[in-house]
Amino acid sequence: MIPAEAGIQNATAQRNNDVEKGSMMKFERNILCIGAGYVGGPTMAMIAYKCPQYRVTVVDINPERIRQWNSSNLPIFEPGLEEVVLACREKNLFFSTDIEKGIKEAEIIFVSVNTPTKSFGAGAGMAADLQYWEKTARQIRDCAESPKIVVEKSTLPVKTSLAMERILSGENDRVYFDVLSNPEFLAEGTAIKDLENPDRVLIGSHETKRALKAREVLVEIYSNWVDREKIITTNLWSSELSKLAANAFLAQRISSINAISALCEKTDADIGEVATAIGMDSRVGDKFLRASVGFGGSCFKKDILNLVYLCRYYGLNEVADYWEGVVRINDYQKDRFVLNMLNAMFNTLAGKRICLFGFAFKANTGDTRESPGIFIARELVEEQAELVITDPEALENARVDLKDIEQHITYLDDPYEAAEGSHAIAVLTEWELYRDLDYERIYQSMMKPAFIFDGRNILDHRRLFAMGFNVFPIGKAPLTHF
Ligand code: UDX
Ligand code: ADP
Repeated sequence: MIPAEAGIQNATAQRNNDVEKGSMMKFERNILCIGAGYVGGPTMAMIAYKCPQYRVTVVDINPERIRQWNSSNLPIFEPGLEEVVLACREKNLFFSTDIEKGIKEAEIIFVSVNTPTKSFGAGAGMAADLQYWEKTARQIRDCAESPKIVVEKSTLPVKTSLAMERILSGENDRVYFDVLSNPEFLAEGTAIKDLENPDRVLIGSHETKRALKAREVLVEIYSNWVDREKIITTNLWSSELSKLAANAFLAQRISSINAISALCEKTDADIGEVATAIGMDSRVGDKFLRASVGFGGSCFKKDILNLVYLCRYYGLNEVADYWEGVVRINDYQKDRFVLNMLNAMFNTLAGKRICLFGFAFKANTGDTRESPGIFIARELVEEQAELVITDPEALENARVDLKDIEQHITYLDDPYEAAEGSHAIAVLTEWELYRDLDYERIYQSMMKPAFIFDGRNILDHRRLFAMGFNVFPIGKAPLTHF
């Protein structure tokens, strides 16, 4: 057994003892989370794992999701998640569809339901769709029989906490609700690491005596494993805005480097070298400067559009335009990628077999929400290409995303089989496994001339070129044999 595994097993055995002892006692706190998704599930699993003295229940309206959380096949792929869930499930971590019972029993309720971009009516394509969130607020109000601390975990428009308070305080004057904002900063693929060792925990509240007491309860929960100095407290609206702004800043860095990558391709500068030179300035820092086929994920675009909507609402059109530019550059980057493929492959993709290496929006997740792969696959099919898609975790989601064009797509687990007979490979996700494939073997099995479009700059371009591939990285001069 490798030492790290032994460490986890010892820690888990120790924990099991503690939890068994804990189950003899009454739990110190009863925590509920409404919404068993990418945020709610892992976050609550970590609280249960770190705090055997608390009882944590996660509820969802989707019975299939809950069934999966209770099964050996969890609904989301996240490194390390299974170990954490298995260590606590049915001890102090429970997954259920009984939302009413959960609300009645809990003293602290995290709300982690989805808040997608609105697809209809005023603010369509921009504002957050708050219907799931509002239903939840009403359900809490209608079921609660004792005071509750309600914690906003979903990313929400600024001032939503105020709306939450208004809904909660109407009609149910039997009980009092304290509303806190506690945005989650975890990134998918590293959720467990991020939850275990967060850069910061942010808690927003009012400044009344009562609200400060509620805030202290949440601070106490996190301080079971997070240093106090990393737990920062602010007013409610700073907390809500910080989350939107943090995601906008991160996305802005990617659009900045991607914008420069377009210029590199025109000037023979190398985006890797430029990013290193920029990132070594300690004021800038070297993270989040990887040029790519574009950012995806459920948060960045949604949160920026939300910010843009908010700015326009307050008449700050210049500010709105500035942030909207981040999304525009991201769309441009995806467009550019497909156009580069088309240009390189003699301006026609009709009838050509194109293999996509990766479909998840980033490595180490099966999530495909807003994945550049969705847009690129659709554009390629529009050009009448035949697609083969491979991905170690995301094929199930890919099938759903591309259901309406399924007749043009083959899904294969094995990247060698997927590449066989293809005219081109496009790397869309930076999965480690794609770095280490036997590209000689792949080259031999492909149609010639063989093309590789490395949308993540993870491959050894010179080596591939020497094998015979025509190589098109992002933000670097292509290496071609013609
Ligand atoms: C993001 C934020 O990082 C997290 O703090 C927040 O809570 C939720 O949104 P996530 O969307 O899970 O997390 O992943 P992230 O690692 O931020 O990547 C987002 C996208 O940017 C991915 O498509 C990724 O491939 C891309 N990316 C990231 C780049 O293209 N280049 C980079 O340098 C970094
Ligand atoms: P996130 O990435 O923000 O966690 P997800 O879409 O992964 O978003 O998860 C949100 C979860 O919230 C989904 O599983 C959805 O079924 C659940 N949900 C939405 N509305 C309600 C509701 N009214 N009550 C309980 N769960 C809800």
